[in-house]
Amino acid sequence: MDDPTLKLSDSRTGKSFDIPISNSTVRAMDLRQIKEDPEEFGMMTYDPGYTNTASCTSRITYIDGDKGILRYRGYPIEKLAETCTHTEVCYLLLYGELPTQSELNNWDLEIKRHTMVHENVKKFMDGFLYDAHPMGMIVSTVAALSTLYRDAKNIQSRTNRRLQQLRLISKMPTIAAYAYRHSLGLPYVYPDPDLSYTENFMNMLWRRAEPKFQPNAVLAKALDVLFILHADHEQNCSTSTMRTITSANADPYIGVSGAAGALYGPLHGGANEAVLTMLDEIGSMEKIPNFIKEVKEGERRLMGFGHRVYKNYDPRAQIIKGIADQVFEVTGKNPKIELARELERIALEDDYFIKRRLYPNVDFYSGIIYEAMGFSPEMFTVLFAIGRTVGWLAHWEEFMEDPERRIARPRQLYLGSSERDFVEIDARLGKMQSERP
Ligand code: CMC
Repeated sequence: MDDPTLKLSDSRTGKSFDIPISNSTVRAMDLRQIKEDPEEFGMMTYDPGYTNTASCTSRITYIDGDKGILRYRGYPIEKLAETCTHTEVCYLLLYGELPTQSELNNWDLEIKRHTMVHENVKKFMDGFLYDAHPMGMIVSTVAALSTLYRDAKNIQSRTNRRLQQLRLISKMPTIAAYAYRHSLGLPYVYPDPDLSYTENFMNMLWRRAEPKFQPNAVLAKALDVLFILHADHEQNCSTSTMRTITSANADPYIGVSGAAGALYGPLHGGANEAVLTMLDEIGSMEKIPNFIKEVKEGERRLMGFGHRVYKNYDPRAQIIKGIADQVFEVTGKNPKIELARELERIALEDDYFIKRRLYPNVDFYSGIIYEAMGFSPEMFTVLFAIGRTVGWLAHWEEFMEDPERRIARPRQLYLGSSERDFVEIDARLGKMQSERP
C-alpha cells in the first residue's frame, strides 16, 4: 500500500495537495506549501491552548483520556502506586526501565548524598516575609540554585545533565521543607540519611526537639504514593513550560523554576489549594446546590473537576480516594471529605457535567488528605511540585536527546493594524482614561 496521505484541495486556487500522514498526524510544515499567492507566507494551523497540536514525540507517559488510562513507560499507574517507591518511579521515568534491587539501592544512596543544600540557601529563604506563599519561595529558590551550580550550563554533556537531575530530585524536598518551616518560624532541619526519601521529607518538616524523627509508616506510604501519582503527566502546562524554557538552552534550575511557576496557577497544580478554599467557602451540605447553580451559570468553576485530556474519571483521583481512608485512620477524618463526596455525587448526576464530561481530577481529593496530615493549603502545590520534578527532568532529558529539538517559537495570526503613518505627540488624540492599560 502507498504511504498514507491526507488529500486537501484549496477552493481558493483549485489546487490539490497530498499531505503525508504518520502516526495519524500531519506535519504543520507540510501545509506551508498551500498558498493563494506565491508571495504569501503559506498556510498555518491555528490552535489556541494547543488543544490538538503535538509539540514533540515522547516515550515517557501514555494517557488515554477517554478510557481513564495513565501509564509511565508502559506500566499502569495503579501497579506503580501499589508496588513501587517514588524514587523507583523516578528511576523509571528518567532511565526508561525499572531498576534492579542493586540499581535502586545505589540510586537511593546517590539521592541521599545530594539532599543537603548549600548553607546560603537558608539565607535566601530567610529573606522572605513570614507569610510569603511557599510556591513563591520554591520558584525563586530553585532559580537561585542556578547561581550555585554554574556547571549546570554544560547542558550538552549527558553526564552533567544526570548530575543536575539528581541534585534537583534530591533537593526539592529539602527546599520545600525549609519553605514550610520558614512560614512557621521554625529552625530548618537537616536531612537524615537513615530515612527514605519521603520519610526524610517528613523529618525535615515535622521534627521538633526529639533526637530522631519517627515517621508514621501509613502517612509515609500515602505521601510517597501521592508523589508517584504526580510524577508525570506528559505535555501539561508546566512540562511544556520546561521544554519551552530549556529549548533556549537555559539550565535546568531555571527550567524547573519556570515549570514550578506554571504549576502554581490555579488551573493547573494550584487547583489543589483552590479546592480547599472552595470547600471552606461552601462550608456545609445545604450550600452545595446553590454552589452548583453558580457553576452552571458560569459564575465560577468547580475546582478539581475537568481536565483537558481526561474525559473520564482521572485514575489518579480514584487512587487518592482510596488512600484517604487509610490516612484518616491515623489522623482522624477530615470532615471536608463528606462535602467533597457529596459535591462529586451531585456533579456526576448533573447534565451540565455529564454533557461536558467533567470528572474529578487529581486535585479534587489530594488537598483533603494533605490537610488531614497537617499541611496548610498553601503547601499543597509544593507537594505536587516535589512529585512532578522528575517528570519535568525526564522530559528535559528526552528533549535534549531529540534530533528534532529546536527552540520553541510558535507563530501568531497577526490581526492588528497594517502600516500606519506615525503621529507626532502633539497631534495624538489620546485614549479615554478608562481605556488605558
Ligand atoms: N467547572 C465548571 N465548568 C467547567 C470546569 C469546571 N471545573 N472545567 C471545564 N468546564 C466547562 C467550561 O466552562 C466549558 O464549558 P462550555 O463548553 O459551556 O464553555 C467546558 O467545560 C470545557 O472547558 P474548557 O475550559 O474549554 O476546558 P479546558 O480543557 O480548556 O480546561 C481545565 C481544562 C482543567 C483548565 C478546566 O477543566 C478547569 O478549569 N478545571 C478546574 C481547575 C482544575 O481542577 N485544574 C486541575 C487540572 S488537573 C491537574 C493539573 O493539570 O495540574
